[in-house]
Amino acid sequence: MPPLVHENGNRVWTRKHLLGLEELFPWEIHHILDEAQRMLPNSKPGSSKLQTLVGRMVVNLFYEPSTRTRVSFAQAARRLGADVTDFSSSGSSVSKGESFIDTARNMEALGMDFAVVRHSVPGTPHLLTHHIKAGIINAGDGAHEHPTQALLDILTIRQRFQKLEGLSVGLVGDIAHSRVARSNIHGLLKMGARVIVCGPPTLIPAEVTQMGVEIGYSLDEILPELDVVNVLRIQFERQRVGLFPSIREYYRLFGMTAARMARAKKCLLLLAPGPINRGVELTPEVADGPNSAIFDQVANGLGVRMAILSLLAQARQVESQGSA
Ligand code: CP
Repeated sequence: MPPLVHENGNRVWTRKHLLGLEELFPWEIHHILDEAQRMLPNSKPGSSKLQTLVGRMVVNLFYEPSTRTRVSFAQAARRLGADVTDFSSSGSSVSKGESFIDTARNMEALGMDFAVVRHSVPGTPHLLTHHIKAGIINAGDGAHEHPTQALLDILTIRQRFQKLEGLSVGLVGDIAHSRVARSNIHGLLKMGARVIVCGPPTLIPAEVTQMGVEIGYSLDEILPELDVVNVLRIQFERQRVGLFPSIREYYRLFGMTAARMARAKKCLLLLAPGPINRGVELTPEVADGPNSAIFDQVANGLGVRMAILSLLAQARQVESQGSA
């Protein structure tokens, strides 16, 4: 989709859905990060709310558990003046056989302008764009993409280093089942970073090399080169068979421990998308240590989600002005 260009040379955001980072142009990612940074002061409790989404309804359409993403989107939408509805498949008429599409259509009939969708089936948010008019935001679809998580990870890196180009970023853990890894790979490579994925061979799919990343099977070998390490959760719920001998073995080879931190660059930025499993992917002292930006990531998520909702609303306005 070619971007619109104003007479002043500025490009205009025209995308009506955020489905993944794979399809975004690098300028769009820069634009979201700039908008997110600009919105952060308005994301804090006590700051003035914006009026961008007054009269609009944002629905969290969640078919999988979530803490951060769900609360963050609700909070972001409220900071922009929207009405927010939280839908969970558990306890809903889904148990009586109602389909995902019919549920979404019902939400639209109730006034939904934006649907924030989390689902275990990859492509579900994309499917929805063919059935309803509301703007769709992918809040995690199976092992496919989790674009707002990667954007908040990338924003946290940019804040710390004031750049992305040339940085070495390690994604460690369950790459095979991680939508966060996929979105981070797309986003980071577009921003000019070097990406190394690291984990047990059984958790690194062969096709990942075609995405333009490097592979490291030994964390101890790659760690001294890294500026950033993003520690991914082992997704037991998506694994059909045991893909490594034991949690203890995984922790020994890939766990972020104080001993490993001592062998990393002093300025290493430690990220984890959460939820974290203390004692599996990282130790409590690393999670709460000086290199950790885990809670900065969560705070940055508000700015990112405010930016996304604003940009999608802006695109709808541009479209309605064009068709008026
Ligand atoms: N990082 C993340 O997506 O967390 P939740 O599953 O709690 O939303």
